Order: sequence, then structure tokens, then C-alpha cells
Amino acid sequence: MDVRIGLIGAGWMGKAHTSAFANALMAFGPEYGTPVFEVVSDVSEDAAKAAKEQLGFARYTTSWEEVIQDERVDLIDIATPNAFHYEIAKAALTHGKNVYCEKPLTLSAEQSVELAQLAKDKGVVNYVGYNNVMNPANAYIKTLIDKNKLGKIVKFSGTYDQDGLLDASLPITWRHINKFSGSGALGDLGSHLLSISQYLLGNIENVNALSKIIIQERPVKVGSAEMAEVENDDVISILANYQNGAIGMISASRIAAGRKNYLAYEIQGTEGSVYYSLENMNEVHVYFTGDDSADRGFRKVFLGPDHKGYSAFYPAAGIAIGYNDMKVLEAHELLAAVTKGTSYACDFEFGANIDKTVSAILVSAQEQRWINVHEKGGITV
Ligand SMILES: NC(=O)c1ccc[n+]([C@@H]2O[C@H](COP(=O)([O-])OP(=O)(O)OC[C@H]3O[C@@H](n4cnc5c(N)ncnc54)[C@H](O)[C@@H]3O)[C@@H](O)[C@H]2O)c1
Repeated sequence: MDVRIGLIGAGWMGKAHTSAFANALMAFGPEYGTPVFEVVSDVSEDAAKAAKEQLGFARYTTSWEEVIQDERVDLIDIATPNAFHYEIAKAALTHGKNVYCEKPLTLSAEQSVELAQLAKDKGVVNYVGYNNVMNPANAYIKTLIDKNKLGKIVKFSGTYDQDGLLDASLPITWRHINKFSGSGALGDLGSHLLSISQYLLGNIENVNALSKIIIQERPVKVGSAEMAEVENDDVISILANYQNGAIGMISASRIAAGRKNYLAYEIQGTEGSVYYSLENMNEVHVYFTGDDSADRGFRKVFLGPDHKGYSAFYPAAGIAIGYNDMKVLEAHELLAAVTKGTSYACDFEFGANIDKTVSAILVSAQEQRWINVHEKGGITV
């Protein structure tokens, strides 16, 4: 069965998604659907045209509305900056299309809840690109938790730090302006950590957050003396209570000197612990109190065919998988959902639950007090 894709937004993620769909076909075979690259759109005609040529789309356009209305498209793939997700996803769902939307789902909990409900009403595939959920390492850690090998979970602590925006001479981008991004390091980086922790531990009850803008303004373009205001968090720290009783300590920074893609976390339970860093993506460290006392200590488990998703790439353990492979597994989940109706974790409801947490964190950081994630106007999904 063909799955005809209409891509909206031909930047980094647009390219990553397209290559992931092509590789998912290679890795899993046509049984799960054959991606057909029907049409690509971008507000930049040059970007849309280049994507058509380079990524192999049949047509290009500068109008996302055209993509939504195209009868030849089954799956709308939204890879635009955050601010456009809501309007495009809403229009796509209204037209009965399957929707794959990059994270975060929207700029607000209210909008995300609305989309999650609309997606349910329409009965179409609705997927948010929280690709870390598809990491075989996180799938393995989830089995440890679900099989109670860590006992009762006491604490989740993690940080997602990068230094890509540490240089104050780098120009302002959509990521620094709230009407386009919704938040700074929180939505861009912290939301990935929230997605992992909410996938592993369940939803968060309440939060208390502290955030700062360190680089207050940036040049409007490279080398310009004209400056524009940075509107959102460079660095953020959050205390959280999970509904399962665990304590959370989560932080994110986009100006963390020396840190490149440092998504690292530790989960401690009454019968064991795990720690993991995306910079050493293929290694999970585990500790079990049930080991003989003389043998006790953290040990390193290399990812291998025993871990969900890994064997799509390699037949033997310890051969490194990478970032794009998470996107391949994500593309496979989507194709399988469209062609076989299989279930998946990262639906719009999952995305809306993360956006509720993000909204609560933003209010908490502003008002300097604990905020209940589900307090805001009785939002329910
Ligand atoms: N899952 C991940 O690991 C991950 C990583 C990076 C980015 N993202 C998310 O992906 C999305 C895109 O990020 P990116 O890094 O690819 O950005 P990008 O700036 O590289 O690309 C965005 C593209 O969208 C185009 N665009 C802007 N407005 C548009 C509109 N209204 N219609 C059509 N095209 C439009 C731009 O011209 C640009 O080509 C964001 O929501 C971001 O948060 C996710």
C-alpha cells in the first residue's frame, strides 16, 4: 500500500523525516507501506524547489493549504517552526488527513488539547515527533520499569544541555521569539526530556520552575549592529512531582558551554537505578539491588537485537545506532499505524500532556510558585 506524503516545511526536520521514511522502507520492507513523496511545500520557494530536487518529491508549492487540499496526499508531515503547527494540523485533521507533526505539538496546552480531541473525533493517525521515545535505550528502560526491576521509582533527574546558542553574536532566530516558538530551551530541549520521563513514569502532577534569559539581545542578522530582543529562556530548572509519586529534577540550557547534545538522565528506584546519556547513545548503565552484594555496581549494557527497534538496523549487539535511526523507527511506527492500524505512544494526547506540563512550567517560572499541571481551566484530554 502506498502512503502518499505531503511535507510542509523543508528545513532540517523536513529532510530528516523524508530520509527516515525512505530508510524505514529499506529497514522494514513494503509490508508496512511504501512512502511516496508526493508534494513538498515551504514558504521559501528556493527551499521547496531544492527539496523537490534533492529529496525526490513529485511536486513543490509555496502554499501549505494546497498540500492539505491535495486529494493525492494521505499523510500531512508538518516540519515548520512551532507557531504554524496548530493551524496546519487543525486544517489537515479537518480534511480527514493523517497527521505527523514535529514537537512541540502547539504553542499552548489549550490548542494541543483541542487538536488531540479533533484527532480522536476524526479517527485518523495523529503523531507527534518526540523521537526519543523511539530510542531502543528508552524502550529497554521502560521494560525494566514495567517489569518492576527497579522497584518503586523514587526520582527522575535529567538535563538537556547544548551550547549551540552560547555565542552572543549569532543572530536571532524563530527559536528566540515567543510567537514563533512558545518558549526557549524549555520547548526546544526540555520537552524532549519531558517526553522521555512522561513515557517512562507517566504524567506530572505539579511543577516549580526557575528560568533565565542570559543573552538578552541578538543581531537581527549575521554581522548586523541592529539588535533584536531575545524573548525566552536560555536556561531553565524544574522541580516536579510525578503522579506515580516520584520526584523530578529537570533542566535545560541552550547556552551550556561545552555541552553539545547532552541529554542525560538517571532514574532511581527502590530496587535499582539506570543512567543514560544521548552522547553515548548505545550504552545504558544499570544497577540492581538484587545482585549478590559482592557483585553489586553499575554495569554497562550495550544496545543490541534484544532491545526493541535495534534489530531493524543490525543483527549483532554494540554496533552504534544514531539520531537519524530514532527518526527511522518513528517513520516506521507511522507507516505501520496508517497501513495496519497499529498503536503508538506519541499521539496528540501524549503531545498535549507534554504541552500542559510546559504551560504549567512557564506560569510557574513567571509567578515563582508551584503550579498544578491540570489546574489551567480544567483542561482534560
Ligand atoms: N524532534 C527533534 O529532534 C527536532 C529537532 C529539530 C527541530 N524539531 C522541530 O521541528 C520543527 C522545525 O524545526 P527545524 O529545525 O527543521 O527548522 P528549520 O528552520 O530548519 O526549518 C523550518 C522550515 O519551515 C519553513 N517554513 C516556515 N514557515 C512555514 C510555513 N508557514 N509553511 C511552510 N513552510 C514554512 C522554513 O522556511 C524552513 O525551511 C520545529 O517545530 C522544531 O521544534 C524537532
